[in-house]
Amino acid sequence: MRISVIGCGYVGLVTGTGLAEAGHQVICTDNDPERIAALKSGVVPIYEPHLDTMLAENRRAQRLSFTSDAGEAVREGEAIFICVGTPPLETGEADLSAIDNVARLIAAEACESKLIVEKSTVQPRKSNCGRFTVRSWSDASTAPCT
Ligand SMILES: NC(=O)c1ccc[n+]([C@@H]2O[C@H](COP(=O)([O-])OP(=O)(O)OC[C@H]3O[C@@H](n4cnc5c(N)ncnc54)[C@H](O)[C@@H]3O)[C@@H](O)[C@H]2O)c1
Repeated sequence: MRISVIGCGYVGLVTGTGLAEAGHQVICTDNDPERIAALKSGVVPIYEPHLDTMLAENRRAQRLSFTSDAGEAVREGEAIFICVGTPPLETGEADLSAIDNVARLIAAEACESKLIVEKSTVQPRKSNCGRFTVRSWSDASTAPCT
């Protein structure tokens, strides 16, 4: 399966590398261009046991790639894993703005139906927020489909 991972932190990198190791074709993106540049040059910005070796092996096997072009990542994947950060707000709730940005991006770029997997932490009763955002922005958007 072609899988996109949005957010290359602890969750995204481990998820993407694990899915590539399982045989899927994985493309990962992040809005931090330095992080993507490091990953493209083989530098893994986080520590997880064996992650660097596994990541390098799957890049060599061309099952795992990195891009700063988030639109490309959205268009490539049949399934899209949202793994962006949701840091706590002063109220104690999670800041869901990064998920909202990704949901709008998916609505703008996706030309076909996608399976969206939300791995970021959200507060109870907010787990549908990304789905509603994608749906409402899809209705309003003119996706660049040919
Ligand atoms: N790390 C853990 O052990 C853990 C455990 C359970 C749940 N979570 C949850 O998983 C989510 C991710 O956690 P993490 O530890 O991987 O965070 P992280 O901060 O390590 O990584 C998040 C990544 O998302 C990127 N990002 C932010 N906004 C983006 C956008 N709009 N487009 C593309 N990339 C974007 C950031 O640049 C960063 O590299 C959070 O919601 C967290 O609460 C993490």
